[in-house]
Amino acid sequence: MPTAKSDVVSIVDLAPALPTILRRAEAMKRARTHGDRSPTRPGTNLAMIFEKSSTRTRTSFEVAMNDLGGHGLYMSSRDLQLGRGETIGDTARVLSRYVDAICYRAYRHEDMRALADSATVPVLNALDDREHPCQIVADLLTLHERWAGKFAGKTLAYVGDGNNVLNSLLLGAAIVGLNIVAATPSKYRPAPSIVTQAEALAGRSGSTVRVVESPGDAARGADAIYTDVWVSMGDEAEKDARETAFRGYQVDTELLARANSGVWVLHDLPAHRGQEITDEVMDGPRAAIWDQAENRLHAQKAILEHVLPAPAR
Ligand code: CP
Ligand code: NVA
Repeated sequence: MPTAKSDVVSIVDLAPALPTILRRAEAMKRARTHGDRSPTRPGTNLAMIFEKSSTRTRTSFEVAMNDLGGHGLYMSSRDLQLGRGETIGDTARVLSRYVDAICYRAYRHEDMRALADSATVPVLNALDDREHPCQIVADLLTLHERWAGKFAGKTLAYVGDGNNVLNSLLLGAAIVGLNIVAATPSKYRPAPSIVTQAEALAGRSGSTVRVVESPGDAARGADAIYTDVWVSMGDEAEKDARETAFRGYQVDTELLARANSGVWVLHDLPAHRGQEITDEVMDGPRAAIWDQAENRLHAQKAILEHVLPAPAR
């Protein structure tokens, strides 16, 4: 009997499984250091549609599929018939006849939804204008490793734009029971519907969600500080206005001094050094950023294992 497919359009789609996925990613990371790449999904194929640039997401998905014994097929949307007007729905129906899952980096969340609605195989959100769920699994994995799997009682501060990364981070933190406080300029707050959803999830996990305006207020008492670019892909027309609005939302040594000792700094990358984060912090001893980037691979493997059916014995 066919079972429902497991899309990951929002990080909430992973909600009940998230702690297991984090533990599985850690186990596969450990195994890989001993040469065991966990080829648990042999012969599977992942279509990878990208409308925007990518270094980490593209590479980690491709390598993850190789490690699992499968294959990732990179497709720039410009080269597909999608770029010439074929609909997202028709593309989804056709690709579903060839591959076992589709990952999609899209400009518009509506397009992500349309692909997921028409595909008969699982769809993974590789970033859109509303969420970046696979990134946040790697971010939580990075903190999980550093805090021996304990999120309760810890606080993550986010400083900067109320964008796709913050939206998924609010939801992800609330799912695993990590307190989160975000400081954004009033014009760039996270989506209200996401904040409401995160508050409901936090109510269940026993954590808290706060959105404030002052980076100093957010950093006070934080165990980790996260930032992202001021100008996301697709926001380039607002570059000047954003660079003005976000001045003061920089993660620098002064801001770190307000946080708890032992604070970790996260950034999903690519960074604009000298804007949202200083060189000193990025290259300093509190940065967990490079492990975080590596963890995209291990997180992706655990997510792919979760959505791809195991081979029949
Ligand atoms: N963090 C992230 O998604 O990086 P890429 O844009 O390089 O994939
Ligand atoms: N918020 C950024 C994340 C890049 C990985 C963007 O959407 O461009």
